Amino acid sequence: MRPLSFTPLAWVSITTALTETPFLGFPSPWISPSPSDDPAWQIAHDQAVEFVSRLTLTEKVNLTTGTGWEADRCIGKTGSVPRLGFEGFCLMDGPLGVRYVDKASAFPAGMNAAATFSKRLIRARGESMGHEFRGKGIDVQLGPVAGALGRTPQGGRNWEGFSPDPYLTGVAIAETIKGIQSRGVIACAKHYVLNEQEHFRGSVDVRIDDRTMHELYLWPFADAVRAGVGSVMCSYNKVNGTYACENEWVQNYLLKNELGFRGFVMSDWGAQHSTLGSALSGLDMAMPGDIMGPPTSPQPPYGSHWGGALTQAVLKGEVPQWRLDDMVTRIMTSYFRVHTGEYTSRPEPNFSAWTQNTTGPLYKASNRTWTTINLHEDVQSNHSLLIREVAAKSTVLLKNNGILPLSHPSSLAVIGNDAQDPPGGPNACPERACITGTVAMGYGSGTADFPYLISPATALFHRSQEHNVTFFNTTSNWDLSHAQSIAASAQVAIVFAAATSGENFVSIDGNAGDRNNLTLWDNGDALIKAVAAVNNNTIVVLHTSGPVIIDYAEQHPNVSAILWAGFPGQESGNGLVDVLFGDVYPQGRSPFTWGKSLESYGVELMTTAADPRNPRQKFDEGVFVDYRWFLTPGKGRVDSATYHFGHGLGYTSFEYSSLTISKHDDWEGYEPTTGTTDPAPVLGEVVDSEEEEVVERHTFPEGFDSWRIPRYVYPWINTTIYNSSENGTAKSPSIGDFPPEARDGAAQELLPAGGRKEGGNERLYEVLYTITVNIKNTGKVEGVEVVQLYLSLGGPSNPSILLRGFEDVTVSPNETKPVTFNLTRRDLSNWNTQAQNWEISDHEKAVFVGPSSVDLRLNQTLPTLYTA
Ligand SMILES: *[C@@H]1O[C@H](CO)[C@@H](O)[C@H](O)[C@H]1NC(C)=O
Ligand SMILES: *[C@@H]1O[C@H](CO)[C@@H](O)[C@H](O)[C@H]1NC(C)=O
Ligand SMILES: *[C@@H]1O[C@H](CO)[C@@H](O)[C@H](O)[C@H]1NC(C)=O
Ligand SMILES: *[C@@H]1O[C@H](CO)[C@@H](O)[C@H](O)[C@H]1NC(C)=O
Ligand SMILES: *[C@@H]1O[C@H](CO)[C@@H](O)[C@H](O)[C@H]1NC(C)=O
Ligand SMILES: *[C@@H]1O[C@H](CO)[C@@H](O)[C@H](O)[C@H]1NC(C)=O
Ligand SMILES: *[C@@H]1O[C@H](CO)[C@@H](O)[C@H](O)[C@H]1NC(C)=O
Ligand SMILES: *[C@@H]1O[C@H](CO)[C@@H](O)[C@H](O)[C@H]1NC(C)=O
Ligand SMILES: *[C@@H]1O[C@H](CO)[C@@H](O)[C@H](O)[C@H]1NC(C)=O
Ligand SMILES: *[C@@H]1O[C@H](CO)[C@@H](O)[C@H](O)[C@H]1NC(C)=O
Ligand SMILES: *[C@@H]1O[C@H](CO)[C@@H](O)[C@H](O)[C@H]1NC(C)=O
Repeated sequence: MRPLSFTPLAWVSITTALTETPFLGFPSPWISPSPSDDPAWQIAHDQAVEFVSRLTLTEKVNLTTGTGWEADRCIGKTGSVPRLGFEGFCLMDGPLGVRYVDKASAFPAGMNAAATFSKRLIRARGESMGHEFRGKGIDVQLGPVAGALGRTPQGGRNWEGFSPDPYLTGVAIAETIKGIQSRGVIACAKHYVLNEQEHFRGSVDVRIDDRTMHELYLWPFADAVRAGVGSVMCSYNKVNGTYACENEWVQNYLLKNELGFRGFVMSDWGAQHSTLGSALSGLDMAMPGDIMGPPTSPQPPYGSHWGGALTQAVLKGEVPQWRLDDMVTRIMTSYFRVHTGEYTSRPEPNFSAWTQNTTGPLYKASNRTWTTINLHEDVQSNHSLLIREVAAKSTVLLKNNGILPLSHPSSLAVIGNDAQDPPGGPNACPERACITGTVAMGYGSGTADFPYLISPATALFHRSQEHNVTFFNTTSNWDLSHAQSIAASAQVAIVFAAATSGENFVSIDGNAGDRNNLTLWDNGDALIKAVAAVNNNTIVVLHTSGPVIIDYAEQHPNVSAILWAGFPGQESGNGLVDVLFGDVYPQGRSPFTWGKSLESYGVELMTTAADPRNPRQKFDEGVFVDYRWFLTPGKGRVDSATYHFGHGLGYTSFEYSSLTISKHDDWEGYEPTTGTTDPAPVLGEVVDSEEEEVVERHTFPEGFDSWRIPRYVYPWINTTIYNSSENGTAKSPSIGDFPPEARDGAAQELLPAGGRKEGGNERLYEVLYTITVNIKNTGKVEGVEVVQLYLSLGGPSNPSILLRGFEDVTVSPNETKPVTFNLTRRDLSNWNTQAQNWEISDHEKAVFVGPSSVDLRLNQTLPTLYTA
């Protein structure tokens, strides 16, 4: 057994050129794919070990390395094992549906799923997405997202994830993963970790303290691991001086040891930077396999950090064989884990990510092997119903002076480009990176093609026709006098406005992924003000990637209602109409805070760097983001927000009563985990040898040039460049930079907060308190209340309150329903950096229950946990 110790790596100080020594922590414990206590993992793990034991070195390497960007039909594809008839893994974006294909659905964005506050709907969305990925023959869905968590409101990819609250995101990511994986598809929790902005995302060095890491950014990934996620994608940024995908602390120590992750880590596309740095710090799969950097950067041998380069490193003993075996065992364990029950078979991919034409090249980068590439398999099933339901139930009623639900007015004016059918069709903008009509998703790789898009104007037009409502409609956001004349002639005016964001490989109007401001786009604010000036039944509908500054509309007496519809997906207009007219109860609650200004958030997006070659960012605000900032005295200000986290109005009223707390005494106290991992096994033939005969067996096969696919990454080596592995990129570490422990496969100590179960020490998830409240519907219509439980951990270093439970409950008029919450040990704990463990402080703790973070109707102090 090898004790824990931390030795900084020599090469990192060269690559980062920082005054502060970056944390590296070699050797942090390498966790072998040791038998888990979870039978599902155990069975899958045994199958994986059996499979991997039959593979040769190059076959193993094949499964760890992508064949190259656009080399195959999927966005990511690993090499295969032809000898055993095993196809490579097919990986496809993204978090809201299958990207780049036809006959598949465009689901509501992650932030909309979160806004439902409905575990049932979030799970169902995951199941439906999983069904569609499987139907297309995909092995891995590249989602869901918990990083970006949403540190800053402008964060370009926040909408792909769920909420800046880690508890809500944790529940949502877990439900989504369970849904996806129940359909025979491996989910991928991404982007791990601290990928909080698009500016400088490929180079920014994020400095973060251990406590903030645990209590905020790592928290939802713990839930993902506990939910059994099969894969995790490491992110582009650096963490404390080292790229996430080469970061021992992030991958080996936190994810694999502390959180007990048994699946595989893949790189974000191009986020891998070296052969040894990634292999020895815990990366398991290189995507897309080749080097995606600028064409001028020196290419490592074989055009890949892995592929032949990894084979070579194993033969030289630089990457120990157990580490390669571990990579492949992890990949295959996740594979076998989802292929159970009715999903034991494995359909082949039936599409190409690169064309929707029926025929096209199987190998796009080399334009080879033209064939019937798209079978246009329709995988949508009846998912439009769920999509419409989520769209409606994620719509947040921010303001309502009584105008909603609408009874049919005599006339209705629909105003604004954001209500309209995009003239060139819903997919006219590649990557959705321009705005031509209504916005129903953000831009970048988190998109999917719309099979169709029901615009608000179309849905409202049909509703108006059915009910003899005179319908007016204008599209220009700039012709304010026309908008006013239409608005003035209608009884009710609904004005639409948008603000979008996305990924920085595309940009709109100078917004390089992240938003440049928090105002509405395309003259939206002026349009709203112009309409409200002439119509005192003005309803504002917002399609935005996060909060916008909207206080003027909240204050405006003629703005009768404001709805945030987020990015609702293909059924946008139908979902909205369902809520406007009261067919569906508005249960949406805001998954973030609506500040009155950008400054009110107390955290800055970094857009310029002192040293642009080495941009560096300190997350100095610690755990105080979003409502944790606004609601904590001495940090933000309650009155600097228009709408608070968890806010959302409904069509009836509820009374909260009878808060009761019961303390559980049936647990035995918290034990830090002790013990060790198993030593790392070596599977199959041992080939860590540079003998000529051994090397010869791993070189490109005879006659290779007659069948090689150009630009394809292969696992074989070329003896003529055999001794030049250190030649790679200038920044690559060589073996001398690593302490010997980095390659040591001996058993290692488990961490106090770790354990053999996914999610870490299982005692963390023990229920310590159960809280019950009664909810009575005191209004006239049936309604859904989203009952929220917040906890105060006490003490000077904690936010005033933290979300620790939510339930959506349907209650009939006069009916009273009990709602129950469980608080686990983790829920009550702070991270103690010295102890490297979760710890319940002595500070007095209290629970608060109510319909939003600032409407806490009931509260009670928690009885002390330990009675002397
Ligand atoms: C990362 O850097 C921060 C800030 O420099 C420091 O407080 C923290 O201890 C470092 N974390 C690790 C694990 O080294
Ligand atoms: C590796 O995968 C490629 C692509 O699927 C395949 O052509 C090749 O034969 C595989 N190599 C081995 C050793 O199986
Ligand atoms: C699809 O087919 C059309 C017409 O045959 C052709 O112009 C286009 O280039 C093809 N697209 C791709 C991506 O191959
Ligand atoms: C790709 O191959 C097809 C079929 O062989 C050919 O018609 C086409 O011109 C090629 N495209 C390019 C860009 O070389
Ligand atoms: C709204 O007006 C635009 C522009 O005149 C028109 O193209 C569109 O069809 C109208 N929409 C409806 C639903 O009438
Ligand atoms: C709409 O008007 C027509 C003709 O006046 C009438 O027959 C019908 O009942 C009306 N429909 C509704 C929903 O009011
Ligand atoms: C904010 O950005 C949007 C999109 O680029 C732009 O339309 C708008 O004018 C900007 N707002 C301000 C106040 O500059
Ligand atoms: C709303 O506007 C209408 C039409 O201009 C007017 O008759 C009515 O008095 C206004 N109502 C209020 C409450 O201002
Ligand atoms: C092996 O190296 C030689 C000499 O550099 C080169 O000509 C050949 O193309 C390489 N073969 C492969 C398969 O990369
Ligand atoms: C190794 O580096 C030298 C010097 O930069 C370069 O000339 C040579 O092409 C490199 N070899 C390989 C295989 O990358
Ligand atoms: C609710 O209870 C009140 C008082 O008992 C009664 O007057 C009212 O009719 C009830 N409402 C409904 C919808 O049952």
